[in-house]
Amino acid sequence: MSKKRIFSGAQPTGRLHLGNYLGALKNWVELQDEYDSIFCIVNLHALTLPQDPKTLRKSTLDLARVYLAAGIDPSKAVIFLQSDVPAHAELTWVLLCTARMGELERMTQFKDKAKGNTERAGVGLFSYPVLMASDILLYQTNLVPVGHDQKQHLELTRDLAERFNRDFGETFTIPEVFIPKAGARIRSLQDPAKKMSKSDENEAGAIFLDDGADAIAKKIKRAVTDSGTEISFDESRPAIHNLLTIYQLVTGKSEQECVDNFAGKGYGQFKAELADAVIEYLRPFQEQIASFDDASVAKILQDGAEKARSIASETLADAYAKLGIVT
Ligand code: TYM
Repeated sequence: MSKKRIFSGAQPTGRLHLGNYLGALKNWVELQDEYDSIFCIVNLHALTLPQDPKTLRKSTLDLARVYLAAGIDPSKAVIFLQSDVPAHAELTWVLLCTARMGELERMTQFKDKAKGNTERAGVGLFSYPVLMASDILLYQTNLVPVGHDQKQHLELTRDLAERFNRDFGETFTIPEVFIPKAGARIRSLQDPAKKMSKSDENEAGAIFLDDGADAIAKKIKRAVTDSGTEISFDESRPAIHNLLTIYQLVTGKSEQECVDNFAGKGYGQFKAELADAVIEYLRPFQEQIASFDDASVAKILQDGAEKARSIASETLADAYAKLGIVT
């Protein structure tokens, strides 16, 4: 029996942080043996907000290194650039013609990113979830491993696929979302009401994957905590819950082991142990990242693009044929 397929991606905008790693990348690596895996660097998504062209070019190739250093193995998984496969933009046009204004207006990420000023927001930002739906549907994806903030986009993807299949005949696999039990919503270290984010103005809120040991220790030391002293997984104390979740994920301990480890200890000691654990966790990744030279990265992306193109073009041809588009 052939393996089921996973597809996921990240935007090459800004520096990736521990939320991206624990909410997404870590799971991609864990799932790549069991699934036929495709991981995309979604550089066309990056255009939904203004980008400096030079920086975008650099961040795109840097993100390929991040995927590799995190442990995605190009002999098992396809790694490719979205812009290398024109079918993404083409299917987006088709699906834009089936999507409704109302369903896109409901996307909370659009409302957040438009910062309340939808009159001035870009049309690309508004239609971004349809590009994401195309990414997923082109590959007949069964499962999409993402953090919690992408859940609504996945629901839209399923709606668009079901609508197309109903109106034009069976074309797309209906994908399921994979959201990890722990780590799907890593919060800002400075404001646990917000998610850890690349675009947070307060850099102290995020641990970036390329932060050095000193920066990591300092950020964790300065992380806000809740009132009370107990170190436990208590949802009503989101700051400590968040820090303890990070500890759990980077050490691989069970919830109970984490709680037992800190019984009777204070926040100072907890933060010191957490900082050490995060530094150790990121060390192999940080050591690896410099080891991928430009030529080998380019080759991996080229091979990945070829495989991706052959799958995507088949799905697009089928969708066009069903629509009566002559090719
Ligand atoms: P992006 O680039 O914003 O984030 C990449 C992945 O990281 C997850 N993530 C988090 N997880 C836990 N805690 C956090 N604080 C946190 N912040 C981010 C995101 O959920 C995501 O899984 N639209 C997507 C990229 C995309 C995509 C796709 C994903 C485009 N096409 C198709 C899956 C399938 C995005 O902007 O992710």
